[in-house]
Amino acid sequence: MKVRFEATQNPDTGIVVIGVFEGRKLTLAANTYNEKMGGSLEKTMEVAGFQGKKGEKLSLMAPHGTNIDRLILVGLGSFDDCCEKAATHIGSALAPESMKAPCENVSILLNGVSIPKLKNHEVAAFVATGLLMRSYRFSKYKTDLKEKDKHKISELVVTTDFPEEADKFFEVQSRIVEGVFMTRNLMCEPPNVLTPSAMAHEISQLKNLGVKIEILEEAELKKMGMGALLAVAQGSDNPPYVAIMHWQGGEPDEAPIALVGKGVTFDTGGISLKPPSKMDEMKMDMGGAAVVAGTMKALAGRKAKANVIGIVGLVENMPSGNAYRPGDVVNSLSGKTIEVLNTDAEGRLVLADILWYAQNRFKPQLMIDLATLTGAVVVALGTKYAAAMGTDQKTIDSLKQTGEFLGEHVWQLPLDDRYDRDINSKMADVKNTGAHGAGTITAAHFLKRFVNDVPWVHLDIAGVAWSSEPHPLSGPYPSGFGVRLLNSFIEKNYEKSV
Ligand code: BES
Ligand code: MN
Ligand code: ZN
Repeated sequence: MKVRFEATQNPDTGIVVIGVFEGRKLTLAANTYNEKMGGSLEKTMEVAGFQGKKGEKLSLMAPHGTNIDRLILVGLGSFDDCCEKAATHIGSALAPESMKAPCENVSILLNGVSIPKLKNHEVAAFVATGLLMRSYRFSKYKTDLKEKDKHKISELVVTTDFPEEADKFFEVQSRIVEGVFMTRNLMCEPPNVLTPSAMAHEISQLKNLGVKIEILEEAELKKMGMGALLAVAQGSDNPPYVAIMHWQGGEPDEAPIALVGKGVTFDTGGISLKPPSKMDEMKMDMGGAAVVAGTMKALAGRKAKANVIGIVGLVENMPSGNAYRPGDVVNSLSGKTIEVLNTDAEGRLVLADILWYAQNRFKPQLMIDLATLTGAVVVALGTKYAAAMGTDQKTIDSLKQTGEFLGEHVWQLPLDDRYDRDINSKMADVKNTGAHGAGTITAAHFLKRFVNDVPWVHLDIAGVAWSSEPHPLSGPYPSGFGVRLLNSFIEKNYEKSV
């Protein structure tokens, strides 16, 4: 999709989108069309009951007095609460209709639309970003080319008062979207294709953007003593990898932020086998790692002025003659012993070793891990909020606030010694499941046992990363949740503004 920003335009073909504020107040561009149509828009809105409220849409086919295929009125609301979320959602709401239409060019007229919290060119760029995000399709494995190209919009024109600024702003946004799309693509890849080694290979491609890559192979992991990660991997014929991504955009001596991701390329549950229904969806269990990789891509793409390390554990959790078992006791890299009670609680074993490794090797000023860690978080928060837990309240607050602004919502759950007791083991130092509910929290407590003094936040994204329920910016299935959140969080808190 080609995106152009222009100062003003009266497009006479394709789909034209105009904005209407609450109370049926037409924007400048909307007025132009109203005049062309002999002033009939007012009556049309009235008859249709269209108020101009946020989220409202009204589509008119081949409107009289113009030559266009379709005029879409979108409600802008009062626009006093406008933020990145509101603006991107206007764009994304236009995607399904634009992609269905036989015509391939869409014009959105936003010149003269001014609102309190965003500048006009930012609104324009965010609306385009929203449309771009929602027009994502994973059609790599369709061999019918007509089917493959079915939904393409070839050109999008957005009018704005400041086209050059909008261009520049959108350029940055589209780098971030490329990161989001990398995450989504990785999550869509089937598990026979995206094995741990294939995922390590995909991550290696970030070197083209200036990200330094290290891939640790099984022999090295053994030598180091990552016994928890290796226990999960041992049932699979596909060997495990740890991939490390270095982005050095900040001051050379500044301690990095470490982003740590769970990359289980397929989670059968192991010997504690999952039920067959929807097991196919467990190809998304590398979502945390995919978000880390996508975020690194976004940061490198826009040349972020921060030092960030991404580190992901890539394994496959399979049942086999060599698989780890319930009852096993394994030695983690930290030296702590773990009693495995359920081989399906594998993500925390992988994270235990790479969290320990990340904090000791890189001495980060902050560590954030992302994981599709528990089914319990889907029960607690559904698909609308990710769960955050950790030792750094400032970071949790900032993630919550940033998430509100851009529409990737985060809700904090408590950490508390009374939950921590639930993972004490009779056999070893810690066990990998609790017995008294609160599965998302006990999982976080498990991770906490492998984190020392470094400020740390854990995001359980099992509910938000992948869902059959459409999300405004992604439709159903992979959302890429986390890439925009972490990118903005880092930009706001760790990049010196120029
Ligand atoms: N990958 C799953 C969690 C998950 C569930 C992700 C649903 C996405 C959707 C994780 O490895 C898992 O199986 N967790 C278990 C832990 C339990 C055995 C303590 C769970 O949540 O059931
Ligand atoms: Mn599992
Ligand atoms: Zn898992």
